[in-house]
Order: sequence, then structure tokens, then C-alpha cells
Amino acid sequence: MEVIKEISVMQKIAEELRREGFIIGFVPTMGYLHEGHLALVKMAKDKADKVVVSVFVNPLQFGPKEDYEIYPRDLERDLNLLKPLGVDYLFSPSVEEMYPRGFQTFVEVTELTKGLCGAFRPGHFRGVTTVVLKLFNIVKPHFAVFGQKDYQQFKVIERMVRDLDLDIQILAHPTVRDHDGLALSSRNSYLSEEERRSAISIYQALKYAERLVFGGERDPHRLGALIKEYIEKFPHNRVQYIEIVDPETLEPVEKIEKDVLIALAVFVGKTRLIDNRLIRLVDEYIAMEARDEEKIPQS
Ligand code: PAJ
Repeated sequence: MEVIKEISVMQKIAEELRREGFIIGFVPTMGYLHEGHLALVKMAKDKADKVVVSVFVNPLQFGPKEDYEIYPRDLERDLNLLKPLGVDYLFSPSVEEMYPRGFQTFVEVTELTKGLCGAFRPGHFRGVTTVVLKLFNIVKPHFAVFGQKDYQQFKVIERMVRDLDLDIQILAHPTVRDHDGLALSSRNSYLSEEERRSAISIYQALKYAERLVFGGERDPHRLGALIKEYIEKFPHNRVQYIEIVDPETLEPVEKIEKDVLIALAVFVGKTRLIDNRLIRLVDEYIAMEARDEEKIPQS
């Protein structure tokens, strides 16, 4: 695996790979890798001839009061995790390399970024889309893989690619969880043992919500209130938002009548964690109808 720090070097390699006809798969990350990131890398490896992973803690996507300074960084550790997976290139530029003096161009997806995390982290998605477009121009991938844990981010990137006619396929990988259901995140390293025990309630609440919907709950407001109550029964937990939204537009629904996404952000102590669950109501209807049909005696 080759470690590359310079944009011009990465671009030359990418150009060469393309000329030779290789399919380039790309996984952008901020490092401090865990099994969630590695699952994305394995997916890329399965589909590509050459895999590029980037590790770059992007200052543009952090608010002034957020954790940019203390975000965990350990490139040596990341290298050792990536090597056995057969990653071809690790692109890890400095902040000065990505944002030299005079930098002033930004990319913004306007609507999909209004709600959910976008409402609480002004400028966050502008930072994400700007860095991801830059990374796409540097790595020149045929496809890139994103995790569904950051569902809004995935939809925002998908939209940017469509709106700007980028010739890159965007693939989603399901959320990877720990044995107790907690979604893996580099930020889990901030949690104390006790906070971690409370954090598990986030996944339990999402599953509880799904059971309620399948049991007939159709009111998103009541459902949201029940999820909040469930999570906040545990110490250290404070819900920032819970939204039941259309999985395509990310707009809140007034009634649960087709597939919905339940998305939430919770502060566990000082650590902000996000998670979501796609509720496949349409599938459930189909399954119910099939079950009903089975009950009809066939002559
Ligand atoms: P980061 O948080 O490091 O995540 C990198 C990628 O890993 C993202 O696509 C994210 O959705 C995915 N990921 C993280 N935890 C996951 C989990 N438990 N299961 C599945 N996928 C998971 O997201 C970013 O970095 C940045 O915003 C970035 C896109 C790199 C731009 O700076």
C-alpha cells in the first residue's frame, strides 16, 4: 500500500490507472478506522481493481464549538488496519495541501441539508460536499462507497453527484454495529463505560419504534415522543432531534403510510451520536397481504 500526501501525485496515479483501464473504487474517511469503515473498504475491494482510501479530518465540516481539535487521529493504526485488506493507496493530505491560502470555493446542496443534522450543524454539509468533490477530483474514482449510518450525508452526496453530472457511482453500505447494537463510530472512543451502556438504548429505541410501526402506530409525533422517552430514561442521554422523514426527500412525514426513515441525534454526556433506521412499511404490507392470501383456503 502506497501512502500519498500530495494532490498532484495522487492525480497522476489516478490518471495512469484510468489509462490502463483499471476500475478505481474510493472510500473517503476521517480516519481512526473501525469495522464500519473496513466493511466499506471490503465492499470497494470486491468491486474495484484498485482501491483508494482517504484519511483527512476535514476542518471545513466542523463547527467552531465542535470536536475538530480533539477528533481522534492515529494514521499508523489506520495503516495497519488497511494493509491486510489489500488497499492500494492511502491518500492522507495535510490541511494546507487541501486548503491553501486563498481557498474560497464551496459546494452546497441546498434542500436536503436543511433538516436533521443540517439544522443543528450549520455549514457542516457544505464542508462535506466541498471536501468530497475535491477528493473526487483528486482520486478520480469510478465509484465511491458511503455508510448508511450517515444517511443524510449519503443522500446529499448522491444529490451533488446527480446535480453536477459527476461520472461517479455512489454506493451505500449498511450500518455496521457492535455486538450490543451500538452503531460503530470513531466518536464512540469518547464514551465512558457508563455512557456506553446508556448509548445502547439508541439502537434499542429504534427497534422498539419499528415494532410500534409494524404494530399499527401511524402518528410520527407520538412515535417520536415515545422514542425520546425511551432514550432519555437512561442516564447521560439527551435527545437533540428525532425525525420521521421520507427516505428520499428527508422531509418530515405527517402520517406513516409508506417507507420512512427514523433519524436521530443524541448527546450521551458530551458525545453526540447519530443513528437511523429505515422502516420498510411497503414490504411489511406486501408480507401481510401474502400471509392473508395464504390463509384463504385454496379449492
Ligand atoms: P467518517 O465519519 O470517518 O466516515 C467515513 C465513512 O464511513 C462514511 O461514509 C460513513 O458513513 C462510514 N461509516 C462510519 N461509521 C459507519 C458504520 N458504523 N457503519 C457503516 N458505515 C460507517 O463521514 C465522514 O467520515 C466524512 O464526513 C467524509 C465523508 C470522509 C468527508 O469528510
